[in-house]
Amino acid sequence: MSAHKAEESSPASTQRAVTMEKLVNLCKRRGIVFPASDIYGGLGSTWDYGPLGAELKRNVKEAWWRAMVTTRSDVVGLDSAILQHPRTWEASGHLQNFTDPLVDCKSCQQRFRADHVEGGRCPQCGGELTEARNFNLMFKTFMGPVEDSASIVYLRPETAQGIFLNFANVIDTQRVKLPFGIAQAGKSFRNEITPGNFIFRTREFEQMEMEFFVKPDPAEEARWFDYWVEQRLNWYVNHGVRREHLKLRPHEKDELSHYSRGTTDIEYLYPFGWGELEGIAKRGSFDLDQHAQYSGKDLTYFDEEAKARYRPWVIEPAAGVDRTMLAFLLDAYDEDVVEHEERIVLRFDPRLAPIKAAVFPLLRKAGQPEKAQEVLRMLQRHFPAAYDQAGSIGRRYRRQDEVGTPFGVTIDHQTMEDDTVTLRDRDSMEQVRFKIAALPAELTGRIGWHR
Ligand code: GAP
Repeated sequence: MSAHKAEESSPASTQRAVTMEKLVNLCKRRGIVFPASDIYGGLGSTWDYGPLGAELKRNVKEAWWRAMVTTRSDVVGLDSAILQHPRTWEASGHLQNFTDPLVDCKSCQQRFRADHVEGGRCPQCGGELTEARNFNLMFKTFMGPVEDSASIVYLRPETAQGIFLNFANVIDTQRVKLPFGIAQAGKSFRNEITPGNFIFRTREFEQMEMEFFVKPDPAEEARWFDYWVEQRLNWYVNHGVRREHLKLRPHEKDELSHYSRGTTDIEYLYPFGWGELEGIAKRGSFDLDQHAQYSGKDLTYFDEEAKARYRPWVIEPAAGVDRTMLAFLLDAYDEDVVEHEERIVLRFDPRLAPIKAAVFPLLRKAGQPEKAQEVLRMLQRHFPAAYDQAGSIGRRYRRQDEVGTPFGVTIDHQTMEDDTVTLRDRDSMEQVRFKIAALPAELTGRIGWHR
């Protein structure tokens, strides 16, 4: 097949082709997600992001940062430490409340979450179970060379507390006025009892959280809560998740976190069912009140207009990087038939695609590989791009479709005469000729942002 001829495909399937198994296999095969510590037999439910997964993850965080920080005047960014003063977790209530109820089987010694066991007997062997005990989910370690109770520190179970600890620093150094937000993305750790479903629930994961501070007033709180629920829902849709795969689920009173006055989850339809993707919570002034009390520091805000000091209330959209990646991967996954051959295609939004363009010399001779390398170097100054000269051009397109590369650039005999290339679109498979010099502007325009 020549690079000039448009490929033909059957219409994209209307039913979801994806299963967790297919996705996990694709991720491993193409270097998106690897089982972690694989050469030592793995370490339960931990995953490493491979070369393409690392790019995807950067893009997900970048897309979030752009929407939440860069393109707004009312939100600033932060990057706080993972290890915080242990009093943080006393004040935040995590030492006391961040627990799951656990039961042990008296026969087989297996441990289960009490609220996941039905019928009061061991789900494994039917044995008798112990009374439920509360198990704290925070990872403990020691700071410094002495391993005693005075040196215990915790790996943060949410990024949010670093924001509250820096509330006074931010209002003292930045010209922020209510309402305003502080956002950060980074690792969090939870000693989950039942991790699983690939990267959905792990013990080490990344969060993208924003604390939005508003006047302590129920009407103001309600207005901004609704605003952020809508913003966050739209963010997923604007980056390629189908609306019908998302739904809002307000929490029942008895499932609210200890700090929450009301929470709505954005849920996604995973192959294993509906599950949380992001939670938007009304945290009131709980955290600032607690830290003010435990630290003895003034964590109030001075309202110039009202000439009053108070601790603001908080609306918190809290998303997971890994779950967001999972949702984007699942929603992008598609299978169709091109020229009588099945293909897997990840229909990523170009902003999220790990590789933006792949460059192919049609022939491995006649100066085409050298020209293709030149074009590659030119594109790499703008975004991640790949080079492939192995196998038929159809195969090469297919390899890139499978990892979601939105654009293919083919160098052929005509390129050598007039410095034009064909640009192939992953989804429409349309091919159009462009001058090489026009490619960076054309592609960055189609991608939607520079990195
Ligand atoms: N600061 C509020 C907070 O941490 P959360 O609902 O516990 O709220 C927010 O967590 C998001 O973090 C979740 O919606 C989910 O996307 C992600 N997340 C939480 N626990 C996770 C885990 N064990 N593995 C992967 N992602 C997790």
